[in-house]
Amino acid sequence: MPVKKRGIPSSAFIISLAKGAGGILMKCFDKPHQIEVKPNAGIVTEADKAAERYLVNKILRKFPKSSIVTEETGEYPGDSGLLWVIDPLDGTSNYAHGFPWFCVSIGLYFEGKPKAGVIYQPFTRELYYAEKGKGAFLNGKRIRVSKTKRLEESLVGTGFYYSKARSLAREVDVFRQMNEIALAVRRPGSAALDLACVAAGRFDGFWERGLSSWDVAAGFLLVEEAGGKVTDYGGKETSIFGKKCLASNGRIHRRMQAIVNKIK
Ligand code: IPD
Ligand code: CA
Ligand code: CA
Repeated sequence: MPVKKRGIPSSAFIISLAKGAGGILMKCFDKPHQIEVKPNAGIVTEADKAAERYLVNKILRKFPKSSIVTEETGEYPGDSGLLWVIDPLDGTSNYAHGFPWFCVSIGLYFEGKPKAGVIYQPFTRELYYAEKGKGAFLNGKRIRVSKTKRLEESLVGTGFYYSKARSLAREVDVFRQMNEIALAVRRPGSAALDLACVAAGRFDGFWERGLSSWDVAAGFLLVEEAGGKVTDYGGKETSIFGKKCLASNGRIHRRMQAIVNKIK
């Protein structure tokens, strides 16, 4: 596994963050939750907040000049070149209902470029880790995207944004079309984990509109380091701030693109 360079967090530190936050999520999992509704952005529980507090404190104690972007408390400015993009709990609706498809997601950037990403699913104790140029791993074992060539044989995932103000009619239409062609379509409810599944070859592809940087910062690097492809719906290069994400094993990308690109 990768080594520590001066000023750059080690893989051990990044992994310890995800595991620590995952431990907090598991402690609260079976207990009644304090649920708050966020305007057009789903819900937040006491566990999201506690895991985020833990992550921010731990990062700033060890790397005090870090910049951090988090879902719940926003932006912490810093000037060390390190940028942490954090979703302390991805899949909050699942979590709040006891449905164990949720994770911690942390993407690390250095001087504007992706450096590392970790996604931890504490219920199954599966830890996905990727480092730029060094590959993607699941519980320490190298992972690669699937080799499925035909959309007809593919298992693909998607998600729907929370906003009740905007119509989902187009998304539903694309879902229907994809479902008619692909082997099957799933909507599990944690975009970060869905991307990790593409990296691990469990999904052949994934698409979703309206995701935020913290949903995808770790997942994009995982997919790319596992040999997959991440673009916008038109097949063009995207970033974690792009609003239309298409990720796949590369082989079915154009077929998926032809379907999802109907969403304007
Ligand atoms: C959500 C999940 C979900 C996706 C939503 C996200 P949250 O994140 O990733 O799968 O469909 O677009 O907002 O609110 O559970 O952190
Ligand atoms: Ca999220
Ligand atoms: Ca979240």
